[in-house]
Amino acid sequence: MIEFTLNGQVVQTDDTPDTPLLWVVRDTFKLKGSKFGCGAALCGACTMHIEGAAVKTCVLPVSAVAGKSITTIEGIGTPDTMSAMQAAWAEQGVPQCGYCQSGQIMAATALLSNNPNPSDGDIEQAMSGNICRCGCYPRIMQAIKSVAVQSQKDAAEVASISKATEVFL
Ligand code: FES
Ligand code: FES
Repeated sequence: MIEFTLNGQVVQTDDTPDTPLLWVVRDTFKLKGSKFGCGAALCGACTMHIEGAAVKTCVLPVSAVAGKSITTIEGIGTPDTMSAMQAAWAEQGVPQCGYCQSGQIMAATALLSNNPNPSDGDIEQAMSGNICRCGCYPRIMQAIKSVAVQSQKDAAEVASISKATEVFL
């Protein structure tokens, strides 16, 4: 029995230890947002977060995540309560066929968690393992940049409110 945390809930599986995490999540736990593309860690369609880092899960044995925290696309937001990145994806009309998009969003979300103000080069490098056969790369770049810009504005606003509040304390 292997135990790990999946989207905030502790779960257990008796899948064989060498079963790729992607298939455990899709078939055992019925979360179908993460996709199978190449099965060889080349396309990024299967990207999830493991302890906050973007990881390709099609070749990762489930035994490797025992005791760890996994987040899938279903765990970062819902159609009614989208994450900032999901909302930006919708606003920019990023997807075409959509197949690669959950992996793209997971990679983009991990990028901004580690680097809230990335350069174009940083974005290209971080996203280079996520392939889009439809060629949505310009809109992916635009969506990531829009989230980064907005979060910088929000941070500046919070800092300015805190400073103004200090004056009255
Ligand atoms: S399906 Fe995992 S990287 Fe392509
Ligand atoms: S939107 Fe079709 S593969 Fe990326």
